[in-house]
Amino acid sequence: MPKCRVCESSYEPFVDFGPQPIANGFRSPGDKSEEYFFPMRVGFCSECMMVQLVDQPDREKMFHENYAFFSSTSKFMAIHFQAFAQTMMDNHMKGKKDPFYVEVGSNDGIMIRNYKAAGIRHLGVEPSANVAQVAKDAGINTVSEFFDETLAQKIVKEYGQADVIASANVMCHIPYLHSVAKGIKILLKNGGVFAFEDPYLADIVEKTSYDQIYDEHVFFFSAHSVGRLFAMHGLELVRVDAQDVHGGSMRYTIAHAGSVPKHASVEAQLKKEKDLGIPSAATYEKVRKNVERSRAELVALLKKLKAEGKRVVGYGATSKSATVANYCGIGPDLVEFISDTTPIKQGKVTPGMRIPVKPYDAFAQSYPDYALLFAWNHAKEIMAKESGFMKAGGKWIVYVPEVRVI
Ligand code: SAH
Ligand code: TYD
Ligand code: ZN
Repeated sequence: MPKCRVCESSYEPFVDFGPQPIANGFRSPGDKSEEYFFPMRVGFCSECMMVQLVDQPDREKMFHENYAFFSSTSKFMAIHFQAFAQTMMDNHMKGKKDPFYVEVGSNDGIMIRNYKAAGIRHLGVEPSANVAQVAKDAGINTVSEFFDETLAQKIVKEYGQADVIASANVMCHIPYLHSVAKGIKILLKNGGVFAFEDPYLADIVEKTSYDQIYDEHVFFFSAHSVGRLFAMHGLELVRVDAQDVHGGSMRYTIAHAGSVPKHASVEAQLKKEKDLGIPSAATYEKVRKNVERSRAELVALLKKLKAEGKRVVGYGATSKSATVANYCGIGPDLVEFISDTTPIKQGKVTPGMRIPVKPYDAFAQSYPDYALLFAWNHAKEIMAKESGFMKAGGKWIVYVPEVRVI
């Protein structure tokens, strides 16, 4: 039986997605080299409540100088992160002398650039060298390394402790969270806060958004699991704030235990999670059934459309789409190509199922009958942009929270 990465208790996986590739491992169409796959199973530890991947590929296989995810492809997310930065500045930096901000997983600078613009002393930590370079080119102080306890010590030596540490969609990527928590403990000033947000487990459970599960996402957090994890390191969950991004995220605010008053939102969220069955193994049996049903319905729909001679194209070659395509067996026979605005993905094929990725123009120049919305978490932004497609009679296929045609 696998052992929990947080508390070392044994647990049974509750769902098995079969072999999965590196979700951001886009390949050249002619690449004949053997592709790497790992067995993707997910489990729930009933001891510390952490939901986690059983196996995760080595970090260097995922985060490197050819990392394909550039945060700034979404305008909506840029606005979201500006607001996140503003909240931190207003609540935790105002009036402080020479405050210092550290961001873990700062990518191309989508959030940290707001601190630079405000003239705040800052440091971004971003191991994927190509995306880090974009931030460096914009004058953002960035170190291209993995954050952990050792790096935290180095940062303290060179810059001193931080008033605010923030991170978005990064903590759930890091299997060595104890080292990260120790690093936070060292790097964070007494009275300072560490605020991070990630896709929220309760949203994944309620919406069957199983595509949030892929190689990079090793943890699926809740207030229950996050509180316990940081408590193991003398840190405390002092506040939670639900966020309407990435299909439902949660922002967790952590501080040195007893250093910051605890907000009522923590108790309220713990109660909500209990009501939703988040601490109960039976919930995850239901999740497995829902995932299997979702796959059956999506495959049936795509096969029916194909039999009717309809053209179906994918919209957004997201990391998430790798799980859907590989788990459901969706290849170029069912989805002609996927259009995506990220240059590094264009002209390549998707990991595993090898669906061609084409630039956005390929979608706009010849609208298909149906667009399978792999970037469903950006639906608002995309549907606003694509009124032309809908006017031309085009229809969307979504699969979260259920498979349906819009
Ligand atoms: N914060 C951005 C990027 C999220 S993608 C956003 O929300 O859009 C996850 C990022 O975390 C990648 O850029 C990856 O290189 C980085 N990352 C992975 N492991 C890390 C670690 N140990 N320390 C810092 N960053 C890490
Ligand atoms: P996101 O859900 O942020 O990514 P992931 O699942 O990888 O975490 O999706 C971003 C992807 O979607 C990225 O490849 C760019 C693409 N995209 C478009 O092609 N058009 C758009 O309008 C948007 C918002 C995203
Ligand atoms: Zn555990």
